[in-house]
Amino acid sequence: MKFFVDTADIDAIKELHALGMVDGVTTNPSLIAKSGRNILEVTKEICDLVDGPVSAEVVATEAGAMIDEGRKLAQIAGNIAIKVPLTWDGLRACKVLSGEGNMVNVTLCFSANQALLAAKAGATFISPFIGRLDDLNLDGLDLIADIRQIYDNYGFDTQILAASIRSANHMSECAKIGADVATAPPAVIQAMADHVLTDKGLATFLKDAEKAGIKIV
Ligand code: E4P
Repeated sequence: MKFFVDTADIDAIKELHALGMVDGVTTNPSLIAKSGRNILEVTKEICDLVDGPVSAEVVATEAGAMIDEGRKLAQIAGNIAIKVPLTWDGLRACKVLSGEGNMVNVTLCFSANQALLAAKAGATFISPFIGRLDDLNLDGLDLIADIRQIYDNYGFDTQILAASIRSANHMSECAKIGADVATAPPAVIQAMADHVLTDKGLATFLKDAEKAGIKIV
């Protein structure tokens, strides 16, 4: 499973990238707003850092305007994935932009039917939002499994990009289901390293090493 980082925070991307944890980056208008930077500038900086796909989202809602914005975003760098919302207009924009050879990430997916439509419209990535479904007492991971089954049934090559990930558990469950990619905030990726027994075991080893005067010189 590829790891995308869900942030526009350059320092956080650099830190994870140095460890080989960044196969791509996703942003959205909320994350760009949080960065306090110009969308074109910050996105260019991310594209210069990361070789993999960098999703940048349109803010128009009508297909023609989304296509114009998408073309402008695609000019930032060769690794831009144009992000469009899963509306009928977004699907129209996806068809045109993917037909022009761009990577397109169809976002705000909350149902298997929406994912089916995005695949047929030529999406490179479909972004089902796990956490926001869980917030409504629904099971976001069930949606990932349903889309996996549907795409495998018919050989769609649209990649499942599990999004709105809130916990380390979401990451391992997505990997078990077979999501192609998971995009998570930096803190969630870092939390994947945590285990209480690792902390406890390390504390014991260090105590014993100190008692025995073990030194590696
Ligand atoms: C990524 O592409 C999405 O925009 C993001 O994962 C949404 O996450 P959130 O539901 O935590 O805002």
